[in-house]
Amino acid sequence: MPADEIRRCVNITNQLKPDLVVMTGDYLLWDPAAQGDVVQALAGLRAPYGVFGSLGNHESITDTEESITRLFAAQGIHILRQERAAIRLGGDSINLIGVDDSIPDDKAVEGLVTPGTVNIVLNHNPNDFDQAVGLGFDLMLAGHTHGGQLSLEFLHRGLSLARLETPYVSGWYEKSRGQLYVNRGIGTTILPIRLGARPEITILELSRT
Ligand SMILES: [Fe+2]
Repeated sequence: MPADEIRRCVNITNQLKPDLVVMTGDYLLWDPAAQGDVVQALAGLRAPYGVFGSLGNHESITDTEESITRLFAAQGIHILRQERAAIRLGGDSINLIGVDDSIPDDKAVEGLVTPGTVNIVLNHNPNDFDQAVGLGFDLMLAGHTHGGQLSLEFLHRGLSLARLETPYVSGWYEKSRGQLYVNRGIGTTILPIRLGARPEITILELSRT
């Protein structure tokens, strides 16, 4: 994906005037040498409550988990790696958590959930949704699928490559006390083609119930 295209998405995001920006991983495809450029392209993101992210499976594949986290940190972007950050809004706070790619095991994240507040987890792989609900996360934000990338779901639900991997391909899901949103992201994998799965910058509005 050309850096200019990423910058265009950054400009669109900033024009939406978000309170908080989160990203859910896969900043690279195969080439670790691209990490400096992609971080520079994303460095223009602005939000008063901060810009946060988690890592995807491609940061693991490219062995850039530590280096890209450092590069983002130098730009004021916080990659949460089995960590949490308290987002304070007046007298309230949101507990924002990030894990690498997917929840490794329950023990690694149990202490990150804060009872009595809203717990939002950035978790690249949507397959962890059931586990996340069991751990007490209120909302999981995931990516990874590209909405199927080559999807014929506009013809028939189920006609998507991503369905081979996960039942949570794109959009909103709810299960007992937990909610999941799977964004289609802005990039592509293998082939620079999308069909029936348009790129997406998601606006999420949190409301008190
Ligand atoms: Fe991925």
